[in-house]
Amino acid sequence: MGEPKKLYIKTYGCQMNVYDSERMAEALGGNGYIEVGSPDEADMILLNTCHIREKAAEKVYSELGRFKGLKAEKPDLKIGVAGCVAQAEGAEIIARQPMVDLVVGPQSYHRLPEMERAAGTAKVIDTDFPEEDKFEKLKSRPKARRGPTAFLTVQEGCDKFCAFCVVPYTRGAEVSRPVDRILTEARDLVERGVREITLLGQNVNAYHGAGPDGDAWSLARLIWALDKVDGLERIRFTTSHPNDMGEDLIAAHGECRKLMPYLHLPVQSGSDRILKRMNRRHTAESYLRLIERIRAARPDILISGDFIVGFPEETEADFQATMDLIDAVHYGSAFSFKYSARPGTPAAERPMVDADEADDRLQRLQALITRQQRETQDGMVGRTVGVLFEKPGRLPGQMVGKSDYLHSVFVDAPDVSVGEMRQVRIASSAPNSLAGTLA
Ligand code: 5AD
Ligand code: SF4
Repeated sequence: MGEPKKLYIKTYGCQMNVYDSERMAEALGGNGYIEVGSPDEADMILLNTCHIREKAAEKVYSELGRFKGLKAEKPDLKIGVAGCVAQAEGAEIIARQPMVDLVVGPQSYHRLPEMERAAGTAKVIDTDFPEEDKFEKLKSRPKARRGPTAFLTVQEGCDKFCAFCVVPYTRGAEVSRPVDRILTEARDLVERGVREITLLGQNVNAYHGAGPDGDAWSLARLIWALDKVDGLERIRFTTSHPNDMGEDLIAAHGECRKLMPYLHLPVQSGSDRILKRMNRRHTAESYLRLIERIRAARPDILISGDFIVGFPEETEADFQATMDLIDAVHYGSAFSFKYSARPGTPAAERPMVDADEADDRLQRLQALITRQQRETQDGMVGRTVGVLFEKPGRLPGQMVGKSDYLHSVFVDAPDVSVGEMRQVRIASSAPNSLAGTLA
């Protein structure tokens, strides 16, 4: 064995990409690579890309442009593009940026080690949708210690076909991983120091993986099985579709101690006319009723969401309906985006809203969300909440962790170590974090 080769991975987009990047780094470990924090010293650069909005996709090309000098200095440098842009654009990427050696779509990551070996001599592209469990083939070899939180992909792809969204095309049809593999991976993570697992899926609450009994298990059933994993303290999941919130999952929010009181449940718009054009298959009213049922099961749950403003043909009245829905729900956090037309999606054929109008709506919506977010966070002052400590803070003796509700919490706690769960009394609220003392 010679010197280890150096791998630099840059990850864009969603948490699933973060998870995939970890798996790819582990797989390339088998080819003699160790991960480094800067592209300058790398022997291989891998961009794990996102195609969800135009801006995200264009970033890839500007980033690649920046590596031109490096490639000129070091002709052996291998440059790879992975993720959803790779899936959507395939060979087009090499046509636009000939210095790219390797293009690999999310369904082909298990082939990455052999692709890397071939990449020195030829351009390699793989954007197939094979019938294999890539994660089974991407199993991690080293049992290295890990931080206290981890992502675990349980479901991938989407069959919903919202009219604006590229995910069904880039990530493919809905596939759920079998229960026993997820439990094995979870136990392994816990052995390596993980205390909190976030189950990932583009449509995670539509999970229907094969259980050991041969039945298809719901997400709630999977959560109850994870609840029994000793040493695992917290379970979260993201992202969910309102139409897949089953009764058993709602009930789990009230009954499962390890399931955290935070739910990301995107609605996108509060106008039924727009929801219909978005092909969401639910109404504003049905979403509000659903939130009521979830809050009946777990009154303190913090609801988070996603919104798109300026969807084709959205009027001021449609936008007001979205603002009214936000008022009615009172979100603890939310992400909002200006509509971006994505090639190949049905909405991209429809007339766009005036760009300035869309900008203006986005600003108004974000102001409302920011206010609600701040109110929710301020409302934590005086309460005692669970905190999982993740790292030391900047001040001596200070530790930082996440509350059950996913707020960052700073605590003066010199005797607490990373990975410990403690009750904390919240004393004050700053714009993006809370501070408190050990209870
Ligand atoms: N334009 C703007 N936002 C989008 N999203 C998905 N597709 C688009 C698009 N074409 C947003 C949705 C989704 C989140 C992940 O990204 O709000 O929930
Ligand atoms: Fe982006 Fe969607 Fe791909 Fe995640 S799955 S990287 S959000 S396009």
